Amino acid sequence: MRVLIADPIAPDGAEILEQRGVDADTRLGLKEDELTAAIADYDGLIVRSETKVTPGVLAAAKKLQVVGRAGVGYDNIDVEAATGHGVIVVNAPSSNTISAAEHTLAMMLSVARHVPQAHSSLAGGEWNRRKFLGTELRGKTLGIVGLGRIGTEVARRAAAFEMRILGYDPFVAEEHGRHLGAEIVNLPTLFEQSDIITLHTPMTDSTRRLIGEPELSQMKSGAILINCARGGLVDEDALRSAIEDGRIGGAALDVFITEPPEGSPLFQHPNVVVTPHLGASTEEAQSNVAREVAEQMIDVFEGRTPRYAVNAPLVPPETAAELAPYVPLALVVGRLASQLADGQPERLSISFRGAVGELATDILAATVLSGFLQTGTETRINIVNAGTEANRRGIHVQQSKDATQTLPYTNLVNLDVQTTAGETTVGATLTERGQTEIVQVNGYQVGIIPTGGHWMIIRHTDRPGMLGRIGTVTGENNINIASLHVSRESMRGPALTVVNVDESPEPRHIDAILGIDGVDTVRVVNL
Ligand code: NAD
Ligand code: MLT
Repeated sequence: MRVLIADPIAPDGAEILEQRGVDADTRLGLKEDELTAAIADYDGLIVRSETKVTPGVLAAAKKLQVVGRAGVGYDNIDVEAATGHGVIVVNAPSSNTISAAEHTLAMMLSVARHVPQAHSSLAGGEWNRRKFLGTELRGKTLGIVGLGRIGTEVARRAAAFEMRILGYDPFVAEEHGRHLGAEIVNLPTLFEQSDIITLHTPMTDSTRRLIGEPELSQMKSGAILINCARGGLVDEDALRSAIEDGRIGGAALDVFITEPPEGSPLFQHPNVVVTPHLGASTEEAQSNVAREVAEQMIDVFEGRTPRYAVNAPLVPPETAAELAPYVPLALVVGRLASQLADGQPERLSISFRGAVGELATDILAATVLSGFLQTGTETRINIVNAGTEANRRGIHVQQSKDATQTLPYTNLVNLDVQTTAGETTVGATLTERGQTEIVQVNGYQVGIIPTGGHWMIIRHTDRPGMLGRIGTVTGENNINIASLHVSRESMRGPALTVVNVDESPEPRHIDAILGIDGVDTVRVVNL
């Protein structure tokens, strides 16, 4: 076996591979065409964030079994393309948590006390104590966006500085916040009340430009923004204007939209501190991530399930055959419910009725749970870690089964999500043809066969012309409707329309549908 190490990692990784008879070649700084030309000879590839693992690289990787990301965020790897090529992607989600949290605190103190600017001034021969008047952290409000591994450790450390802590994370329970001494609030409240805001979410389609001009305008005058997660979370131009206008008091940035960044006037600003993506750059974290990734590579080469597979199916072989048809169904039920639910999740009740009630439903319940939790994290949530992840987030999970039939279905999987904002329910059945069919959404009978494309779930009042108006919005915006399903509680009463469209609707299209008289809510989901 041969592994290509394409970004710098600690020597521990290569040592582990070599000890197990794997050849490890370190070739740093390869351009995309060079990597594409080289990859055909390798069974494994290890990267950090510099190397982009693109569909082109993966298409050329004829022998590749596994890509290892020596770190948490794998937004530089095209996971979908890897899955399409049967390549397992693994990451090292917990190895650099403490380093990233400590760096966040270092950045917070640096910007609050102007440490880098004062250093440069003194090193440049100036002795100026007045210029660098700082602020204390004690008594200030810290808003943490994303209370996962790193956000949680930041909260713990900030508590020691006697800060008041607010947290926003749609995928953790209020109980998790309480344990940390953090108050879980919505995003506008966090923006309005925080003196310092720190970002700790993954980079996904839903977090891209999480902080733009509208969000900066909601922040307290003089607030400080810290970003040690991913550059793409922040609109850098909007941040620059807000800092130059004095609306935002300062920023500390470890990550940038383009890395290395092409330079920015912000870098010279007296209230801005920047570091070149150093969150995980400690001896400890680098040794841990290198080891964790190398060990998982060996697992894959030796036919074992790696601990943090991002895209690998994990149904144990002995039960795989009977459970396999229900796995996509269980994932879809969890995934849909998580995209529909508002508020903080508190309790998930999963029930299995009919034929499915005779199977190993613990594994299916964990699959439903992983579908639910996966939406908000880059950590691979699978049947092995779904329960632990729910526990860690303070979400209670209960399961029930009953093998008696639930006519008209021979089998039925239902998920009931209780959140601080109310209840969301989704039910699905496996049809005779072995297809997943979602049959119930929030009590409405539906008949959705989850296919590709985008789904708009629209709650509205049943009235003449409603579908025509929705169709006019999609038609005028060149959005092609693949299927449409209407369900209603009563004639001219509350109704739910599910529309499958080929093109992704933009926020302005959703606003146009919301503007139709009688439409209550529109949710775009991916199944
Ligand atoms: P994690 O998966 O443990 O936590 C991420 C949290 O974000 C989860 O709790 C999730 O529920 C939450 N989340 C998802 N979408 C959200 C949204 N829209 N709003 C609010 N919260 C949301 O990951 P982690 O280990 O804490 O790492 C977080 C990110 O930090 C990584 O994805 C990575 O990109 C970045 N990171 C950067 C460095 C660095 O060197 N600067 C080092 C490690 C990690
Ligand atoms: C990560 O996501 O783990 C970070 O980007 C750390 C890194 O690899 O430098």
